[in-house]
Amino acid sequence: MLDELQQANEYIINKIIEKDTLILEMEEFAKENNVPIVTKEVAEYLKFLVDSHNFKDILEIGTAIGYSGTIMGRIAKKNGGKLTTIEIDEVRYNQALDNFKKGDLLDTVNVILGDGTVEIKKLDQTFDFIFIDASKGHYMEFFKDSIERLNDNGLIFIDNIMFRGYLYKEYPKRFKTIVRRLDEFINYLYENHNFVLMPFGDGIGLVRK
Ligand SMILES: C[S@@+](CC[C@H](N)C(=O)[O-])C[C@H]1O[C@@H](n2cnc3c(N)ncnc32)[C@H](O)[C@@H]1O
Repeated sequence: MLDELQQANEYIINKIIEKDTLILEMEEFAKENNVPIVTKEVAEYLKFLVDSHNFKDILEIGTAIGYSGTIMGRIAKKNGGKLTTIEIDEVRYNQALDNFKKGDLLDTVNVILGDGTVEIKKLDQTFDFIFIDASKGHYMEFFKDSIERLNDNGLIFIDNIMFRGYLYKEYPKRFKTIVRRLDEFINYLYENHNFVLMPFGDGIGLVRK
């Protein structure tokens, strides 16, 4: 069954033909430099969701090199909105700025250098769509600050929520705390929010307000 799921993911990935030079360049850079970015099928789904809802004001926690940010920022720009994205690592922050510049998105994207758990609390605006894709141990905290800042009918998209499949299969002991926290987080979401869990990519959680 698990193999089948992986095969299905691979089938989808092989169907996606990317032609955009900047996106291809970022995918190549991420691969060569071991930068974790959303997988192709997750990127497609993210793009589809943001585009089909015409979301304007978007928040991302975990920018990395600006790959998912470029995908969402382009849609925000088309819809007359903005993307705010938070990154803790200065090297990644600068790489993201370079990529947003190349993508002509500097007028649309506000990249904040800092810890998401701190920076999100300083934001006094609300958002239509929030993408959580940073340190897994802080997901509950990111989420609680995010849901307060989410507009009605907005969506929160949580990536890697099943953390490499470690929530349902054998995992190295050093990940015990993070696995327990993510499992408790999923229980909390089921009990308290309008939540759906999907088993593709690394596990995606969606919450609608
Ligand atoms: C999975 S990567 C993000 C990938 C990006 N969303 C994409 O798909 O193109 C996670 C990023 O979150 C950053 N990060 C980790 N902890 C953070 C925190 N507490 N606040 C902000 N960023 C954080 C890491 O430095 C890393 O660049």
